[in-house]
Amino acid sequence: MSVIRHATACDLTQIIALNIESNDNAWAEQHFQAALNNNQIEVIENNQQIVAFAIWQTVLDEAELHLILTDIAHRRQGYAEKLIQSFIHQNAHIKKIVLEVRQSNTAAINLYQKQGFRQIGERRDYYMFPLETALIMEKIC
Ligand SMILES: CC(C)(COP(=O)(O)OP(=O)(O)OC[C@H]1O[C@@H](n2cnc3c(N)ncnc32)[C@H](O)[C@@H]1OP(=O)(O)O)[C@@H](O)C(=O)NCCC(=O)NCCS
Repeated sequence: MSVIRHATACDLTQIIALNIESNDNAWAEQHFQAALNNNQIEVIENNQQIVAFAIWQTVLDEAELHLILTDIAHRRQGYAEKLIQSFIHQNAHIKKIVLEVRQSNTAAINLYQKQGFRQIGERRDYYMFPLETALIMEKIC
């Protein structure tokens, strides 16, 4: 059975390991620690294993999705969709969610489009290693 909840300090090692395993632009450990301290990380736990997580920042009625990631072995089972839907459900005051995504990240772009995000702009050469354009996407809730 899977549960969606706020991350705790005990989850940090698993979250960082998942990120190293599957994120090209691995966040530094101190960024995860800061997000945890600010209560910005939501996880899905399945049989005591973190299978997916998302990092959000909320300012008044706007939110930004900084990172969403599903363990490679658990992809395409709806976990990322559940994290986005759960955040929206739990934060009824949020009117707009924004995010940036690599232009080549088809999986993530499809996920966001399926969840009602649309492209509103782009930032050329925004990402490094490799250099790549970021698409800016927005969802009006
Ligand atoms: C993007 C990512 C978070 C999706 O996680 P996931 O749990 O596998 O996604 P879901 O199972 O909820 O998929 C929801 C929808 O997203 C789209 N999608 C997900 N993976 C896809 C893929 N590999 N190819 C095409 N579309 C994909 C589909 O529309 C899918 O719906 P469907 O299965 O009914 O067709 C995951 O691939 C990942 O962790 N990638 C590495 C980290 C990353 O790039 N994060 C995003 C930028 S921060």
